[in-house]
Amino acid sequence: MLTTYAYDDKREAIEQWTHDPCGFSGAQGLEIGSKAFYERVDKNRYEEYAPWMKTTLEFAKFPGKKLLEVGFGMGTDLFQFAASGSIVSGVDLSPEHLRIASQRFVTYGLPADLRLADAEALLFADGTFDVVYTFGVIHHTPDTQRAVDEIHRVLKPGGRAIVGVYHRYSAFFLFSVLLESYLLRLRFLRESYRRTLSRIEHRQHSDACPLVKVYSRRSLRHLLRAFRDVRIECAHLDRPHFGILGRCLPEAFVRRLESRETLGWYLIAKCTK
Ligand SMILES: C[S@@+](CC[C@H](N)C(=O)[O-])C[C@H]1O[C@@H](n2cnc3c(N)ncnc32)[C@H](O)[C@@H]1O
Repeated sequence: MLTTYAYDDKREAIEQWTHDPCGFSGAQGLEIGSKAFYERVDKNRYEEYAPWMKTTLEFAKFPGKKLLEVGFGMGTDLFQFAASGSIVSGVDLSPEHLRIASQRFVTYGLPADLRLADAEALLFADGTFDVVYTFGVIHHTPDTQRAVDEIHRVLKPGGRAIVGVYHRYSAFFLFSVLLESYLLRLRFLRESYRRTLSRIEHRQHSDACPLVKVYSRRSLRHLLRAFRDVRIECAHLDRPHFGILGRCLPEAFVRRLESRETLGWYLIAKCTK
């Protein structure tokens, strides 16, 4: 008999990122709160994992603007905006992330208004922000449409939203997760689809099963339909994303696909209210 589990999605998210903070693994062994720790986190994220991020995600474009990050994690990206002169606020569900991110702003002496709050019920008045940024977050919350509606609500008219989600039609999802992990390794015989997808999130210290959803360009555009203008970019493609097949693919071919914004793991929507 098949057993189905009812998950409390928000509790699973807190469980996941309390025990394994997002982006922490590259800086293991360093003291949280020390500059060495945050420098290692940055190096891992912006030089090793995703060198495209700093420009694509527009960290330096909003000096003097009021910016909210929804789901700030360890505060890594939010700190980039703040260091470029944005006036930053942030919300996250995880008390551990709040602690690590707050410590970062204290360590470097930059101001930030960081709060424990739910993306689906933002604590701010309508039209508060010039920019709302969220990367790798709203696909983990059960009512993603509600989170998007909240982002739209707290933006000023003419404000900008930058929204990053996982891409369904990516090499990583199709080849590594679905084909290799779920089907060829026969995971579908012993665990749920949800559990296999949850393994996308690095997990070492808990048995959490965070909700993971993936979006096509079309479904993302539908979520964002309240915005006046939406442009969607696609980024992040590497040979290992193709699983065992990747070994046979020439690097130049993969780079060409990436430059054509095909099969990348992230969809990034840039929206105007
Ligand atoms: C994969 S991490 C991404 C963190 C950060 N944006 C980054 O890119 O490093 C997902 C984050 O979303 C947060 N999160 C998940 N659901 C949330 C919700 N409903 N409201 C606020 N934060 C949420 C988690 O606590 C976690 O910090």
